[in-house]
Amino acid sequence: MDLFEYQARDIFEKYNVPVLKGLIADTPEQAQKAAEQIGGTVVVKAQVKIGGRGKAGGVKVAHSPEEARQAAEKILGLDIKGHVVKRVMIAEGAKIAKEFYFSVLLDRSNRTFLALCSVEGGMDIEQLAEERPEALAKVPIDAVKGIDLAKALEIAKLGGFDDELAAKVAPVFVKLYEVFKKEDTTLVEVNPLVLTEDGEVIALDGKVTLDDNAEFRHEREQMERDELDPLEAKAKQMDLNYVKLDGEVGIIGNGAGLVMSTLDVVAYAGARHGGVKPANFLDIGGGASAEVMAAGLDVILNDPQVKSVFVNVFGGITACDAVANGIVGALDTLGSKASKPLVVRLDGNNVNEGRKILADANHPLVTVVETMDEAADKAAELASK
Ligand SMILES: Nc1ncnc2c1ncn2[C@@H]1O[C@H](COP(=O)(O)OP(=O)(O)O)[C@@H](O)[C@H]1O
Ligand SMILES: [Mg+2]
Repeated sequence: MDLFEYQARDIFEKYNVPVLKGLIADTPEQAQKAAEQIGGTVVVKAQVKIGGRGKAGGVKVAHSPEEARQAAEKILGLDIKGHVVKRVMIAEGAKIAKEFYFSVLLDRSNRTFLALCSVEGGMDIEQLAEERPEALAKVPIDAVKGIDLAKALEIAKLGGFDDELAAKVAPVFVKLYEVFKKEDTTLVEVNPLVLTEDGEVIALDGKVTLDDNAEFRHEREQMERDELDPLEAKAKQMDLNYVKLDGEVGIIGNGAGLVMSTLDVVAYAGARHGGVKPANFLDIGGGASAEVMAAGLDVILNDPQVKSVFVNVFGGITACDAVANGIVGALDTLGSKASKPLVVRLDGNNVNEGRKILADANHPLVTVVETMDEAADKAAELASK
């Protein structure tokens, strides 16, 4: 799970990573109060889980509490690449002399950790990696040894820092690695890490991705529930494995592998229909009962972006007839709440019985299609209308 910047900031503070004061606000009035509390020049920052906020108008300097209120007014409600800003952070303003880049991440393909570092931070790091790859150091990190001061100095030098600056940033790298390890994250990124005019090193922007598989080792329940997307929260309540995406074709399938490949075929088919895309990942697991199907459909149909739904089920232990009954039962349960076309592809155990149940029910919203590719095409076509 990705964290918001202010959550990353709070975690950094716990580990003595140098950060600036930061308070959150959900209204312009709260932003004004926060700016009064912090005092002096502040920066009003959109809290959305996407980078490039600065360029999108989501980061504004304010020289007075009144200016902070006005900035918050502009930023709250702003749509940044599909993420609507509901909260801002009021951060103490820094006098920046230099901007650097540092991150540690789980490098799955090489089965190791990796530190990325550059004395040229602040800008789009993907752009830097592409245009001047030599300016971005990539240093594999032994998971047992981690990053001690010596390793941190080595990373800084490889990232282009001179000796004096390296000595300043290295202790911060060590602390950031501690965050990475102790908080069970798969990414800790600071862009920019800055040197202030007073010579201090400060983490000005933080991105942290928690490893959900290690969630049981931490007490962060409250934080999650507060911050989940409303649809994701609802799905979680119903024990569904759901991830909201940005497209128009709702997707329900059984088994993570099948759902992943369904996303692929829908994205592929979508390219032929005006570029429609999958709206979500939803795996209803092995037991596709009417209740689970209804819960899944309920979540997906509540997504205003969804234009059509693709139900892709392979009957295994749960046979297709049970799934078909689940779909019919779910549509009954939902009644008029089910208002978008459904494309259903069933295969596997008892497929003929399953298809017959759907044919007999003859629900006006349901189209049964035999193959996965054809079904994806149909769902994409319906979503593009
Ligand atoms: N507290 C702050 N004080 C001064 N400048 C800031 C502060 N926070 C951000 N900035 C400036 O805004 C830029 C973008 O902010 P950042 O937090 O990195 O957002 P994003 O990466 O989403 O664009 C930074 O590179 C920095 O120059
Ligand atoms: Mg940044």
